[in-house]
Amino acid sequence: MADNKVAKQSLSCATVFIKRLTKRIPMTQVHDTINTRHVLKPALNWYLITGIGLGGIIGSGILDLSGKAAAEYAGPSVIISFIASGIVALLAALSFSELAAMMPLSGAAYTYTYASLGGIQSKINVIKDLFLSFFVEYAAWFIGWNYALTYQLAACTVVVSWSKYVTHFIYVVSNYNATTSLIQAPVAWSDDTESFSITGGAINLPAIVITIAITILLMSGIYATAIVNLVLVVIKIIILLIFIFSTCKFVNVDNYQPFIPSNQGSFSHYGASGTAYACTYVFFAYVGFDSIATVAEEAKERTRTLPYSTVASVLISFLIYIGVCTVMVGLVPYQLLNVDDPLSTALKATPYGVWLPALMDLGAIASLTSVALTALLSQTRIFYAMAKDNLLPSFFAKIHSRTETPWVSTIISGIFCAVFSGICPVDIVGQTSSVSALFIYFFVHIEVLVMRYTHKGLQRPFQTIIDPNLIAVVGAILCILFLIPTKKVTWFQFLSWTVLGQTFYFCFGYWHSKRRQPQRLESINSAAERVSTIGLVLANDPQNEFELNSNNNANSESESDWNNEATDQIIENTIDDTVIMRF
Ligand code: ALA
Repeated sequence: MADNKVAKQSLSCATVFIKRLTKRIPMTQVHDTINTRHVLKPALNWYLITGIGLGGIIGSGILDLSGKAAAEYAGPSVIISFIASGIVALLAALSFSELAAMMPLSGAAYTYTYASLGGIQSKINVIKDLFLSFFVEYAAWFIGWNYALTYQLAACTVVVSWSKYVTHFIYVVSNYNATTSLIQAPVAWSDDTESFSITGGAINLPAIVITIAITILLMSGIYATAIVNLVLVVIKIIILLIFIFSTCKFVNVDNYQPFIPSNQGSFSHYGASGTAYACTYVFFAYVGFDSIATVAEEAKERTRTLPYSTVASVLISFLIYIGVCTVMVGLVPYQLLNVDDPLSTALKATPYGVWLPALMDLGAIASLTSVALTALLSQTRIFYAMAKDNLLPSFFAKIHSRTETPWVSTIISGIFCAVFSGICPVDIVGQTSSVSALFIYFFVHIEVLVMRYTHKGLQRPFQTIIDPNLIAVVGAILCILFLIPTKKVTWFQFLSWTVLGQTFYFCFGYWHSKRRQPQRLESINSAAERVSTIGLVLANDPQNEFELNSNNNANSESESDWNNEATDQIIENTIDDTVIMRF
């Protein structure tokens, strides 16, 4: 008997302990906190937002990686790799669009994770609830931390590439060969020997200079940033179109043979497996469309702009990529494309003199500037959202009173990018950025499915003609499939970053998280607690296009535990003529 009592008391103590550790964050609180984030200025209309998407996507993936993917992995079938990667990106963009239209808030997938996974808990039993409550915050942290990896590494990779193009451009127009000691980091990584080597360089000065310039621009305000980005996007698209249409008549169809070269023994070296590997390799080219969702709070007419701009930017990039790839591998034998500037190499098959390669360099410089700009922009918004939740130190969320930008986040991201790209062998990290992005997209697909289960009746302002569940399931499976061919060194970098993230979370975020502060729970309005958090998001959102009368409806509910279906119904009943966008 006594043993039984001790066991019961121990169980009860353990339950209380776990409960404290894993205190569930009511969805209301999640969104209550999210709603306090509305301090960023909504200054961007649809074309500036679409520009941010295109600015984030088109960059070194098509300008650099496409050549290596053709020369080393896929041959002319790199076209198939770009199509397959584009489909994965498009599916992810559709899932992002559904969530972005429902929760047009800064933080993108980081915020969606809180809101969607938090909703599971009211439907299932206590033990699962205890586990899930911890899982929600942990998953949100994981996503936020991965975002940091994606954007920071993408920015570093791109500014190093920028440096190469600037040097090449100077050489093409003036025949001046810049000294290598100032344009190269001291250490480089060789994929072939899988080892580091000394380059003879001292520092990558151009990469540092462009990072400083971008940081200053980001600090000067979102509108100026978006305008400069749009100009760069227009330049890069025009130049890529010039490449496609001015050179397509010189394509030699013999260069497409064999379309899939026979495998040379290793998995990634040609053959069907090489083409599959190239899919993963070139996926980097599509990373960045989600930068739209990270600046959601700064968009006008968000529930419309965000989904359409996201899908449009992926589609436009997709078409441009297929055009560029098809022409590139048609102009020269694919073996010649294993260079830093494959498009300029492809131009050697045309009678155009120096002006077109110089123009291509200019296009590349514009492209890479815009990718670095949007990557660092998104990075600062993710840090901002996480710091608002106290998962990062609060100075990351400091907003400048005049420019209304998270200036401390911007400076920190800028310093990291400048130092890392200036002195480290950055070439090795591009693929890690893709892995991290694939994880984020996988989670977003899962969150769409979860939201469809927990908030069935809620109106989706953005819907696809194809069944969204199918899109999410197929998208999630493809994200996992794309992760399979990832190289060991890339997994190692990803896992190192993840371990660093866990250390930081358990040393800081876990103890400071706003959602674990008891007084926050007590301060929650009881009426608000009975309304679905999605409802609260919409109700408290100053830009909200929905009209909600949540208090009246909440009061009309019984005092018993609320459930999502009932509250979704409340929202459903109170949304005035929501326009459903169909894609
Ligand atoms: N998609 C971006 C690029 O290709 C990251 O540079």
